Amino acid sequence: MPGCAQAIMRDSLPTRAIHMSIEQLAEIARAMVAPGKGIIAIDESSGTCKKRFDGVGIECSEENRRAYRELLLTAPNANQYLSGAILYDETIRQSTKAGVPFAKYMLDNGMIPGIKVDKGTVPLAGFPGELVTEGLDGLRDRLKEYYKLGARFAKWRAVITIGDETPSGTCIEANCHALARYAALCQEQGLVPMVEPEVLMDGDHDIEACYEVTEVVLRSLFDALYNNNVMLEGTILKASMVVPGKDCAEQASVEEVAESTLMCLKSAVPAILPGIVFLSGGQSDDAATAHLDAMNRMGPNPWPLSFSYGRAMQQAALKLWAADMTGNYAKAQATVFERAKANGLAALGEWEG
Ligand code: 13P
Repeated sequence: MPGCAQAIMRDSLPTRAIHMSIEQLAEIARAMVAPGKGIIAIDESSGTCKKRFDGVGIECSEENRRAYRELLLTAPNANQYLSGAILYDETIRQSTKAGVPFAKYMLDNGMIPGIKVDKGTVPLAGFPGELVTEGLDGLRDRLKEYYKLGARFAKWRAVITIGDETPSGTCIEANCHALARYAALCQEQGLVPMVEPEVLMDGDHDIEACYEVTEVVLRSLFDALYNNNVMLEGTILKASMVVPGKDCAEQASVEEVAESTLMCLKSAVPAILPGIVFLSGGQSDDAATAHLDAMNRMGPNPWPLSFSYGRAMQQAALKLWAADMTGNYAKAQATVFERAKANGLAALGEWEG
């Protein structure tokens, strides 16, 4: 919806006081999940980016990170299927080779800039094997700056691990409380919160265990959002799908994953939410697309269901670019377009496979 991105840009004069109404937040949220469109997550911290670059033999220099993000953001025609992108602190301060700041490039091309604002996970004291996400200290001022830099939505990722003794109620509560505090701050500063409670695929648990944990986590999250006066009309949920653990002997069919995920979401997510986007979480490119497509074919659903994939949007392009940065540049961009198109069609339940 290029018109919406333009309207957002008109609002972005740095001196303007921020008193964004819920209607404006809701308009941005709806544009993020416009029919047939989703989001590319390119918000890996420099540490995670190094892991991905190491995997394909690329030096993780600032210039390589910039050049790679430029390749992804400027892939020709991908914006037909991308409503926005999630950037990292370093990335939102970077520009194209021609000197256009990435956020401006995006707005000029009908894409809404988003920003990852959590500061990553640390071990939760007293609860071995569990993690809590940090980043609330100083967040109000960071959000003010990101708004001036062009961001109109912000992501915070909490991580829940399924194990014999986990997750604990304390871990779920601590993470959902932090998600709700961050979401309230985002809305105060004129950004749509994209709340992401990721239930990890690591482990040998079955699909039922993932269903139970995801349902408890989502109910706890929406309780916390309610208690913190977060307006759901201006909030997007970034959810993990209900899948068996990676090491579970019994893997699930596309239909099982789609049915379980839909039932879990319907039981725990209020219908007033403007949209749900999924993370890929280590699924193959095709599996991530097939699951999203199947859920949309099973509709109508209470909310638009779309994608906010990182690895499932990027990994093919990264491999090609790593093999020959100059020679494969156009081919790598073409795979970004293909992945965006496949997932955009899946968001409509029209992917042909
Ligand atoms: P993946 O799709 O690679 O899981 O990444 C999405 C994301 O933004 C995780 O926070």
